[in-house]
Amino acid sequence: MAESRTIGVFGAGWVGLVTGGCFAELGHQVIVRDVMPERIDALRAGKLPFHEPDLPEVLERNRERITYTLDAGDLAGTDAIFVCVQTPPTYSGDADLSFVWSALDDLPASDERQILVMKSTVPVGTGEKVRAALEGRGLSNVGYVSNPEFLSEGRAVRDFLNPDRIVVGAFAEEDSAAVEALYAGIDAPVVRTDVASAEMIKLAANAFLMTRISFINEIANVCEAVGADVVEVAKGVGLDHRLGPHFLRAGIGYGGSCFPKDSLALKQLASNSGYHFQLLAAVIEVNELQKRRVIQKLQKHLGKLRGKKIALLGLAFKAGTDDMREAPSLVLASRLLAEGAEVRAWDPVARPGELIKGAVLHETVADAVRDADAAVIVTEWDELRNLASKEVLDAMARPLIIDGRNLLDPTVVRAAGFAYEGIGRPSSPFEGLPQTAEPEAKVSN
Ligand code: UGA
Repeated sequence: MAESRTIGVFGAGWVGLVTGGCFAELGHQVIVRDVMPERIDALRAGKLPFHEPDLPEVLERNRERITYTLDAGDLAGTDAIFVCVQTPPTYSGDADLSFVWSALDDLPASDERQILVMKSTVPVGTGEKVRAALEGRGLSNVGYVSNPEFLSEGRAVRDFLNPDRIVVGAFAEEDSAAVEALYAGIDAPVVRTDVASAEMIKLAANAFLMTRISFINEIANVCEAVGADVVEVAKGVGLDHRLGPHFLRAGIGYGGSCFPKDSLALKQLASNSGYHFQLLAAVIEVNELQKRRVIQKLQKHLGKLRGKKIALLGLAFKAGTDDMREAPSLVLASRLLAEGAEVRAWDPVARPGELIKGAVLHETVADAVRDADAAVIVTEWDELRNLASKEVLDAMARPLIIDGRNLLDPTVVRAAGFAYEGIGRPSSPFEGLPQTAEPEAKVSN
């Protein structure tokens, strides 16, 4: 158990609440501050603004140790303040640091030494700028530490409490020792380094993960051309201990609030310094093209998509979350609507609201696939594992499944009477799709 300290958190978003909740779990006193009154009210009433497994329990269990406030002054006297605000991309691709700067403006004056800890993902060089700003304001008793988060949505609490590593980048030894001490009780290697390197570790780690995804997606596309199965290939490749099995799932591309934003920010950071990061530029482009390949697969079987009924199954950017930020489903829905298709959608938790205008949301998979010309698996929800059922076969106008996540077994799906297209797997020939009696008549309805 760590020696109990008081920790302030700027930002009651996903990173801030996971960070605050988990530090409370480690025995610290935590004060979470946000600028949105309705969010603070909701949190005080025990309501979470998003879906994240285990987090409600952690916050509830440590209720006595966590307070929520609108007043940044309440964070005066805390030992460390974690900055957990959003850093969205600007039009230029740079990260927007305005929330970071306003957190700095709100920093309460403190007589004791206090450490400002950056959890948000920021461009390399931010720490140096913040340090200069602190000095400019005469806040010489405030130390600065970069302590990036490596949390993935849907398993953030587990990631926080069982991390692969803890990265602490500081200007002063005493500050990195103090931040490391806050994590006492967690068994993980600690990388103590300089601030710029800590900032880069985060960006490089995400860029590498995206590179693996775009790499396996390109291998998948070649597999389709030459008749190999990327699922088998990934298995065989991943057993090499130098490569490892992770992030080799081919699919319709990565999405979410982190990868797309962080890849742009790193590419922009490099080009601001006069370096063209070619590999990362290709990773991003491959990802964009990957989302659109589903359209070609549909056209291969259905011809023109005008008037065709397409069911998009899963809207969240991955299973286990209701987050639709940068989700491939958004690009897919817009492309299909632009082709004149009729788009139906289903997701167990994600609610698109205004995000997908023109698509009809259905409460059940059965409703979404009724009379559909194709069903596309967009998110790897467990509920879709039994999609190739007799009921679905009978309900669909044409039994075509495009499996954007390689969730199903192609042999089983084809044996059940469907035409099947995965990603990077031998596909069904065009002739494999039984025609319905009067497909044209259905289209004009
Ligand atoms: C990601 C990283 O995994 C975290 O380590 C990091 O802290 C976080 O970004 C962040 O920067 O805050 P997250 O975006 O929650 O976390 O989700 P991932 O599980 O990494 O998935 C990202 C996307 O890649 C999803 O769309 C997923 O479907 C896709 N993906 C992942 C693949 O297409 N193939 C794979 O093999 C793995």
